[in-house]
Amino acid sequence: MNSNIEIKHIETSKIESVDFNNLPFGSVFSDHMLTCTFKDGAWQTPIIEAYAPISLDPSAKIFHYGQSIFEGMKAYKDAEGNTLLFRPLENCKRLNKSAERLVIPQIPEEIFMSGLKQLLKVDEAWIPTNEGSSLYIRPFMFASGNGFHASPANEYKFIICTAPSGAYFAGKVKVLIEEKYARAANGGVGFAKAGGNYAAQFYPTQLAIDKGYDQVIWTDDNTHEYIEEAGAMNIFIRINDTLITSPTNDRILDGITRKSIIKIAEDLKIDVEVRKISVSEVVAAAQSGSLKEMFGTGTAAVISPISGFGYKEKDYDLPDLDNSFASLLKKTITDIQTNKSEDPYGWRMKL
Ligand code: PLP
Ligand code: COI
Repeated sequence: MNSNIEIKHIETSKIESVDFNNLPFGSVFSDHMLTCTFKDGAWQTPIIEAYAPISLDPSAKIFHYGQSIFEGMKAYKDAEGNTLLFRPLENCKRLNKSAERLVIPQIPEEIFMSGLKQLLKVDEAWIPTNEGSSLYIRPFMFASGNGFHASPANEYKFIICTAPSGAYFAGKVKVLIEEKYARAANGGVGFAKAGGNYAAQFYPTQLAIDKGYDQVIWTDDNTHEYIEEAGAMNIFIRINDTLITSPTNDRILDGITRKSIIKIAEDLKIDVEVRKISVSEVVAAAQSGSLKEMFGTGTAAVISPISGFGYKEKDYDLPDLDNSFASLLKKTITDIQTNKSEDPYGWRMKL
């Protein structure tokens, strides 16, 4: 393993063509990307070069057997111009947890972190400074090795691309609680950030969108009685003044925002319960008026308040609160991420 990084700077930057005041999410890409290839049993020298299409053999196993995993992270700029990351080692650890489950080689922390830092240095000008925008970072790994034999590949790519991005959701999110489909099952890959988990969500999510919802809330695959998570977010539910979120399991992604919010909420003296929460409890709370808030947490989504939910052909609206837990927790976590407040947890990493 050689983690010296080869850097090939592009000649002309695209940055002048980007409107940083109107950034979409994840569809404008920075000038460079980092690529590291695993072959002959070892990771090769990583290369930073122009963001560009990649060439693969049609028999590459990613296309046929879906060995593909990814991460989502963000870089921020503070008022002094420092570049900041939020708990990046957690993303490296989770990528390797996903890799183990999908039989993809472990990426050494040294390549992940030094590659990420170098890439951010080269494309530093792409990190947005406007409030609510950030540089979304997408590290991913996939099977680039060839052959139709249904077995793990002998060659892999680790790539990091970045995209200056605005909000993932335009406003509050209306969700449908799923009664039939499942994104993950016990013993499966739901806890991993495997590309296939997202492919599996698209069909039921499109059915929900056709009915006027934005997202599906997944329930357990066995009984569909318990709330699990949403397509790109973990879910928190506030009943009276208690904040409840499901424990993670085989089927749920162990969200870094989720665990940060649990800690922050506890420190703000909010009563937090990590326990199974049934759909019938949520419906009963909505009917009695004790259901105050629901929101999703995730790197892309930050904290996204839910406006209401549908279940068994009925819609339930959530109240508009002046002092919501969602807005307090969002401000607290984004202030830590962007160096507007102290970071008592040591989560912020300055480059
Ligand atoms: N659940 C799913 C399925 C996700 O895709 C994400 C996004 O990464 C999350 C939860 C939230 O995880 P994190 O807070 O680590 O971004
Ligand atoms: C993230 O929050 O970083 C994610 O990976 C969600 C993604 C599906 C947009």
